[in-house]
Amino acid sequence: MEWTRDMKYRRIEDMDTVEYKKLKLNTENAPWRQQYHIQPVTGLLNDPNGFVYHNGQYHLFYQWFPLGAVHGMKYWFHLVSEDLVYFEADERIVEPDTTYDSHGAYSGSALVVDDEVKLIYTGNHRTENWERIPYQIIAALTEDGVVKAQPFIEGAEDGYTEHFRDPKVWKMRDKYYAVIGAQRKDLTGTIVVYSSDDFKTWTFEGELKTAYQNFGYMWECPDYFELEGIDVVLFCPQGVSPKGNQFRNIYQSGYIIGNINFNDFTMEHDAFTELDNGFDFYAPQTTVGKDGERILIGWMGLPDIQYPTDKDEWAHCLTLPRVLTIEEGKLMQRPIKALANRRLDSEEKNIQVFDEQNVFTGKCYELLVNVEAISGDALLIDLRASNNEYTRLRYDAEFRAFTLDRTHSGLLPEGVDGTTRTTLLSKPLKALQIFVDESSIEVFVNDGAHVFTSRIFPSEHAEAIRVSSLNGSAQLSMMKFNLK
Ligand code: FRU
Repeated sequence: MEWTRDMKYRRIEDMDTVEYKKLKLNTENAPWRQQYHIQPVTGLLNDPNGFVYHNGQYHLFYQWFPLGAVHGMKYWFHLVSEDLVYFEADERIVEPDTTYDSHGAYSGSALVVDDEVKLIYTGNHRTENWERIPYQIIAALTEDGVVKAQPFIEGAEDGYTEHFRDPKVWKMRDKYYAVIGAQRKDLTGTIVVYSSDDFKTWTFEGELKTAYQNFGYMWECPDYFELEGIDVVLFCPQGVSPKGNQFRNIYQSGYIIGNINFNDFTMEHDAFTELDNGFDFYAPQTTVGKDGERILIGWMGLPDIQYPTDKDEWAHCLTLPRVLTIEEGKLMQRPIKALANRRLDSEEKNIQVFDEQNVFTGKCYELLVNVEAISGDALLIDLRASNNEYTRLRYDAEFRAFTLDRTHSGLLPEGVDGTTRTTLLSKPLKALQIFVDESSIEVFVNDGAHVFTSRIFPSEHAEAIRVSSLNGSAQLSMMKFNLK
């Protein structure tokens, strides 16, 4: 189906209930629907938004185009959860219903101010000539719904293009700060900073001054947090060229860590590191969890890629929540512990691996692998495998190279560079924690030192879990949990 501009900017209210119900039913019955990941009720999901913990409840929104698998008029769909494992829909969604967000309620964050959840986001407005004007808007999440105030920033600052969006707000030492992703007039990406004493009047503080002055044409979805006294900045640069194993996806999502001088906003930092080494990860957002931990959720998808679910008019899901820590100067990402609440029955095997052997079967599960010893050149673990399909994890011991290979996974998204993603591990492979759902795989390597997140689109009967070792053997202990 060809999506015209009018179709993309059609609103949910313009659908009658029968049409919407049909769309919902078609989505529910479509192939590759996930069992335990957040996915759109209908249409397309992209960035996680407005992630915050307040009064015993997490709020998490997602960018949502309700009518199909395209980027059209964006809403914020709203979910609430006590544990970040089980979520419920909340009717208080963010709708693009003012002049300022007439062409979409774009991405943004949330913060509790005076005991109320405030949502801070970019209103995407287009003029009659289709020129974009971004507005930064604060809305309050009240008992009765979302109440919007006048925009606190209108348009882009001088020196920047219309690509000026995705505010992330936080409070530090009695002051509020906002970072916004921006494109300079010379078509390079950057982050700009605002500050406020009262959360009403905001002062433009200029750019966050990093060593990356010419690193892509636009930086989307910035995030900032302090972790163990270290400043961490996340952002998503667009237009960075691949470099060896790095930056192979269409757009990147990564972090710099170091120290920010909050007087002039210069940052001393290490090199930009990708958060995830898989095929499908973008626009993550973090918040402080109920125990003070830093939790990250990302979009398991990327813009400008065609996915096999598009033809059934739905697309994408969110990643599982991960806890961030800094260890030995690097960000570690571990799936939240509460996910263990999903575990049902388990099976365990200690095996010496030579030639290919089947270990377990399953489609939606958590798999723990401990590598006790490796004498061979490479260890292969095939998931969602059948006679002619498999998603392969490969570890080449000599180079400490870990590869996720989607070549034979089933249907593949279009517009993706290659079918493998490789990363050199910082230490030899010891442990894997793997989450497999109907159409995704998340691999946490060496206790969260590296993560590979990807969508996969295998056929129904691809259920085998197989291992093999090349030119030698491997000693593994494996445990598989079915998940509810
Ligand atoms: C990132 C992004 C944001 C924007 C939103 C619109 O995926 O392009 O920059 O606010 O999606 O849906």
